[in-house]
Amino acid sequence: MNYPKQVKLVEVGPRDGLQNEKVIIETADKIELINRLSTTGLSVVEATSFVSPKWVPQMADNKLVMEGITRQPNVSYPVLTPNQKGFEAALSAGAKEVAVFGAASESFSQKNINCSIQESLERFDPIMKLAEQHSIKVRGYVSCVLGCPYEGEINVSTVASVAKTLSDMGCYEISLGDTIGVGTPLKAQMMIESVAKYIPLEKLAIHFHDTYGQALANILACLSLGISTVDSSVAGLGGCPYAKGASGNVATEDVVYMLQGMGIETGIDLNKLIEAGQFISNKLGRKPMSKVANALSS
Ligand code: HMG
Ligand code: MG
Repeated sequence: MNYPKQVKLVEVGPRDGLQNEKVIIETADKIELINRLSTTGLSVVEATSFVSPKWVPQMADNKLVMEGITRQPNVSYPVLTPNQKGFEAALSAGAKEVAVFGAASESFSQKNINCSIQESLERFDPIMKLAEQHSIKVRGYVSCVLGCPYEGEINVSTVASVAKTLSDMGCYEISLGDTIGVGTPLKAQMMIESVAKYIPLEKLAIHFHDTYGQALANILACLSLGISTVDSSVAGLGGCPYAKGASGNVATEDVVYMLQGMGIETGIDLNKLIEAGQFISNKLGRKPMSKVANALSS
């Protein structure tokens, strides 16, 4: 086993979580959530997305959120940008890091961003150029790496090819997304091994939704290969509006608890994290979808 000594967690709750909640959360509450998360020891808190408000109304207050948060010096607040329009809006709202998002499934690409995989990569080109000019870091996502809600099984060679293209374009990190949470540990390992032929493990992140309850097992399997960046969502918020039935991301509290138990450093204060998760769960009128949060607060 080749477990890392340290793991970087990328908190995606305010974006991946809240984009899929039926209740529209007040801007001030989003800001408070992000502020709370950024004092837990997390170094990355994905804040919002600059996508069409007609497609994802939950993120329509992106500019207000970016302008309202109190930025901590050692925390990065990336935002999603699907095209040049989104990038320019993100830049004028003060974003210092963005993420482009592609998919390993043609049908998902069409449903999510209304274009083919190839067209999406072409739309990212001007983003990469502008990002370089403005010294903005760009993260790359690949969705549907272990299955697609429309196409079913996805070939790992397609995942590797889209991931490699994003890396070659200049993305500093590639997040491999099991958008609908269908993956299981050995399949996750095979997928990582096929991507790692082209991209060093240090540049790869894993992004598991917990729809089938496999996320922690999948994370453990990928950590054993040396993966050391994990996306997660406080209180297990989330889903994807264009992947019907996709439930939340793996809960950050559960990942932190597992890593602490394994002696792997995260730099995160679990109690503060649980409080942030309870804050947003109260706003949503439900209990956190984190077993650890519920166990420790009962
Ligand atoms: P489109 O309709 O093809 O775009 O949408 P268009 O260029 O033809 O423009 C149509 C209208 O949208 C125009 O406005 C544009 O100005 C506007 P109109 O003239 O009709 O008033 N528009 C925009 N407005 C705001 N911001 C923009 C923007 N671009 C165009 N950036 C588009 C294409 C990509 C915009 C659309 O499909 C979209 O916004 N999709 C949302 C996708 C999304 O946010 N999905 C969820 C995030 S991905 C995810 O969750 C997966 C992940 O977590 C990993 C995993 O789990 O796998 C990352
Ligand atoms: Mg996601």
